[in-house]
Amino acid sequence: MTESDRFHSYVPAEGHGLKHDPFNAIVGPRPIGWISTLSPDGAPNLAPYSFFNAFNYTPPIIGFSSTGWKDTVANIEKTGEFVWNLVSRTLAERMNVTSAAVPRGVSEFALGHIRSTPSDVVRPARVADSPVQFECRLTQIVQLKDVDGRAIETWMTFGEVVKAHIRADLLVNGIYDTTRAGPVLRAGGPADYYEIRADALFRMQRPQGDELARLIAEQETAD
Ligand SMILES: Cc1cc2nc3c(=O)[nH]c(=O)nc-3n(C[C@H](O)[C@H](O)[C@H](O)COP(=O)(O)O)c2cc1C
Repeated sequence: MTESDRFHSYVPAEGHGLKHDPFNAIVGPRPIGWISTLSPDGAPNLAPYSFFNAFNYTPPIIGFSSTGWKDTVANIEKTGEFVWNLVSRTLAERMNVTSAAVPRGVSEFALGHIRSTPSDVVRPARVADSPVQFECRLTQIVQLKDVDGRAIETWMTFGEVVKAHIRADLLVNGIYDTTRAGPVLRAGGPADYYEIRADALFRMQRPQGDELARLIAEQETAD
């Protein structure tokens, strides 16, 4: 078998040559940014974004990417505020409802029968039944570019977490228990998701000290 037989290789600009684009199945599962905002005239908005992640510890910075200038990024640009809500398994179907394209003025909170609760320091509300929420203030909106430097119709929005809320039972002896929160992650295709389960947990410490010295010595011997 040759190297080229072992892999399906493709140039994305020319098409993947497969039944479904594998890109978001490969870069996944991804945490979901379930983002609550207010329009400038105060209408609540809630939508999921799976091009989402955390990017800094201190200060804590999270971000998501909007493919197209959608209401969420438009609201944040105008108001400078948003709330991230963790999607647990029990909220997954309601989260999905909030991805529907609805006319401005129709609240996704009402559409998905989602209870809201006021935030402490920003104006957009939190999802009351979400186990963790981050109140955020906008730090940057960055329009992405392609390899030729041309601006594309995708915007990354970054915000600093200015207040965090963690449901008390998720803290076990002062340590946040990921599994108890039951987060749901977005995988590939039109409909794939994963839950986080305790039996999938494994631990690895970063190489350091004697172990790192041994790895370096082995590599030097091999050279
Ligand atoms: C699980 C999930 C993840 C999504 N991730 C994204 C994403 O990363 N970027 C994006 O632009 N749209 C994403 N969408 C689609 C948006 O949620 C949808 O376009 C929504 O209507 C946007 O709402 P808004 O216009 O109120 O911001 C996702 C939908 C679902 C169900």
